[in-house]
Amino acid sequence: MGFILEIKELKREFVVGSQIVRALKGVSFSVETGEFLTIMGSSGSGKSTMLNILGCLDKATSGEYLLDGVNVKQLDRDALATLRNKKIGFVFQAYNLLPRTSALENVELPLLYQKGVSHKDRRDRAMTALEQVKLADRYDHTPSQLSGGQQQRVAIARALVNEPVMILADEATGNLDTRTSYEIMTLMQELNQDHKKTIVFVTHEPDIAAFSSRTVMLRDGIVQRDTPNANIKSAREALNSLPVSDDYQIS
Ligand SMILES: Nc1ncnc2c1ncn2[C@@H]1O[C@H](COP(=O)(O)OP(=O)(O)OP(=O)(O)O)[C@@H](O)[C@H]1O
Ligand SMILES: [Mg+2]
Repeated sequence: MGFILEIKELKREFVVGSQIVRALKGVSFSVETGEFLTIMGSSGSGKSTMLNILGCLDKATSGEYLLDGVNVKQLDRDALATLRNKKIGFVFQAYNLLPRTSALENVELPLLYQKGVSHKDRRDRAMTALEQVKLADRYDHTPSQLSGGQQQRVAIARALVNEPVMILADEATGNLDTRTSYEIMTLMQELNQDHKKTIVFVTHEPDIAAFSSRTVMLRDGIVQRDTPNANIKSAREALNSLPVSDDYQIS
């Protein structure tokens, strides 16, 4: 299989007053279609900066980024937005859902920006995405009527609705307890294995990285190490081996 993304000597500098912050100092790696990559590193190491560039939400100061073989530098704003919408689904730590808006409508949102999608198509595709995250029965609930883990699943459904080839997630389990984190990781492994989605998942936590097939460790804006995971853990097994507690409700 080919590379879904390739980055070469990527640098990102931020000018803050008279200072230059070098967030990425020349990062190179490639991700094959179908991989499940985690990006780790301490706070300030450049993880979010990296992911925002991979998601075409930000541009590198220098270096190359090829998304599915296309050099993003050569695209104008509209072409870049189209490519991003087609290829990438983004999941954030803060679920970024619209309040007072149903789960279904939140998931429909990315389709509103697409021409030629009928109202019915939009509903159908959003329902399919909600089914993928096992929340179809909550389609008419607003975010405040859902748990944190359920809200994150709505956000994942929103990322899936355009049928992207790649999911980028920035600390998507950062606000969740262990059990709910493992539920989200079970879903991520399913999306990776059953639906063939490439996943790039930023996390602080080694036990979350253990569910991925490879880890890139960033340190001060450079790759400190890039290692395949020989012993990928099953999130479902990890979930099932947690002690059962009445405090939790498993949906
Ligand atoms: N818009 C910005 N303007 C100025 N500096 C920035 C900006 N965004 C990030 N930085 C700086 O770049 C460096 C990397 O930040 P980044 O947010 O990528 O780190 P991170 O690894 O995601 O950290 P965390 O784990 O805390 O989320 C930091 O020193 C940060 O202060
Ligand atoms: Mg970050």
